[in-house]
Amino acid sequence: MDQPVTPPKTPYEIAGGGEVIEAIVARFYELMASEPAYAELRAIHAEDLAPVQQGLTQFLKAWMGGPKDWFAQGKCVMSLHRGFPISGAIGGQWAEAMQRAIADQKGMNAELAQALSERLSQMARAMVNQQQG
Ligand code: HEM
Repeated sequence: MDQPVTPPKTPYEIAGGGEVIEAIVARFYELMASEPAYAELRAIHAEDLAPVQQGLTQFLKAWMGGPKDWFAQGKCVMSLHRGFPISGAIGGQWAEAMQRAIADQKGMNAELAQALSERLSQMARAMVNQQQG
């Protein structure tokens, strides 16, 4: 007899769903805006962080297996960063702020939190497009 097939959980589900992703991204931009260590990273963003907060939240939901709205726009997350001067130092600031924002979600599955931090840090490193810094 066939066993009932339970589909594996997506990272979106393991993380705790949309609210957890919204909380990570809100914390990330809060850190970026308030910590002097991330001033260079803050400086290449627009004055109003609300649109990018919305964009990154939608992207992460889609990328982690939740609602796919961000992908429906047909944007490529790597290409849309080519227009910004991203030094190694700025890439490092992005990765560190994101690692902290993830670590601040206390109830999150620890294994997923670790994997997410590592994968997003790798993506940030891949976006570095300036030699200096
Ligand atoms: C290397 C470090 C990074 C820097 C310096 C950076 C910088 C930026 C900047 C300047 C913007 C435009 C914001 C504005 O106009 O105010 C942006 C948008 C965005 N970034 Fe990054 N970013 C980095 C890494 C990442 C990574 C690793 C991801 C994905 C995991 C990501 C996802 C996004 C998304 C989804 C948007 C919004 C795009 C949209 O919906 O239009 N970024 N980023």
